[in-house]
Amino acid sequence: KKIVLAYSGGLDTSIIIPWLKENYGYEVIAMAADVGQGEELEPLREKAIKTGASKIYIEDVKEEFVTDFIFPTLKAGAIYEQKYLLGTSFARPLIAKRLVEIARQEGAEAISHGATGKGNDQVRFELTVKALAPDLKIIAPWREWNIRSREDAMDYAEARGIPVPVTKKRPYSMDRNLWHLSHEGGDLENPWNEPLEDLLMIITPPEKAPDKPTYIEIDFEKGIPVAINGEAQKPLDLVLYLNEVAAANGVGIADMVENRLVGMKSRGVYETPGGTVLYNAHRELEYLCLDRQTLHFKEIVAAKYAELVYDGVWYAPIREALDGFVDKTQEFVTGTVRMKLYKGNCTPAGTRSPYSLYNEEFVTFGEDQVYNQKDAEGFINLFGLPLKVRALMMHGKNKK
Ligand code: ARG
Ligand code: SIN
Repeated sequence: KKIVLAYSGGLDTSIIIPWLKENYGYEVIAMAADVGQGEELEPLREKAIKTGASKIYIEDVKEEFVTDFIFPTLKAGAIYEQKYLLGTSFARPLIAKRLVEIARQEGAEAISHGATGKGNDQVRFELTVKALAPDLKIIAPWREWNIRSREDAMDYAEARGIPVPVTKKRPYSMDRNLWHLSHEGGDLENPWNEPLEDLLMIITPPEKAPDKPTYIEIDFEKGIPVAINGEAQKPLDLVLYLNEVAAANGVGIADMVENRLVGMKSRGVYETPGGTVLYNAHRELEYLCLDRQTLHFKEIVAAKYAELVYDGVWYAPIREALDGFVDKTQEFVTGTVRMKLYKGNCTPAGTRSPYSLYNEEFVTFGEDQVYNQKDAEGFINLFGLPLKVRALMMHGKNKK
């Protein structure tokens, strides 16, 4: 019998291979997904087999990640608890979907992952498996074994001849892909601690960023970024390019205490350079192109969307239904936004759209063609009527 394991080549997922063989008698098929973590995955081919896997799949899912997961979430404006751009959250359903596809191809009866029993990631992997392949078994070793620390894990590996990384590991739990890098644990666990100077791995600290701003122009079509500085870009290239420019200018750091789905709070520092620019630019364009009612309702949808993505509720009717709403709102979110990147800040420096609802002539004082100031009087009378009626009552004027 076969099991497919989400494998990263790190210590944790390495020891899962012998553990699954010893404790369940499974033939283990490893799957490493390339979500743009910036590591060479080819060496994992040999490593996985040496560690006891019968086979390894290395899957490049970068394009799909951008077009099918990142862009829909960006269009929705979804940000978790006002800060987190969901970099880890929406990578999990994608990875789990590939696990399921490979399990089908291989005729495997189960899938396994290296997420702990205390976090969000286990939920995201497993909700996806339940939604796509309800018959597949799920094995989460962290919820079963009695390995409790990195030292335990190293002992377990050494006893089985699995090479243990010699370099001193950073004390943080990290997750990296083409959208973001997350840091949790270590000294960050105390929310009074400011992140140490060498924490950041992608973004230049704002203090050290250039003293001159960088301007960048982003074209959107129906809410999707399509060009930078007037040059059309493929989705993946566009994100990677913005990552570089934003990171160099110190843009995209979020430091927060967040509510995990599983009940506890946790501290995290996120580096999302390009994503931060895209979210800000996209919102600027919406200010120009969406009417008041739609914009306000979309804010509610964005908060709900973020919660769904965070909770791993991706393959679900509610998310698809919200996508329907979001896509309708994006019909005319087409235009260009100029952003100014400067020492950690990302501020708008110009917006234009052929579908702009903003009209200088209507706003300009003194001109009364479309906007008749006399209309305002009746409007205010009716809009204020409930307040007036109540005030009359409070003053006893309507008592018998
Ligand atoms: N707290 C973030 C989230 O829940 C990041 C999780 C990082 N995961 C990891 N395996 N290091 O999405
Ligand atoms: C983990 O516990 O595996 C990582 C953190 C999380 O999933 O929230």
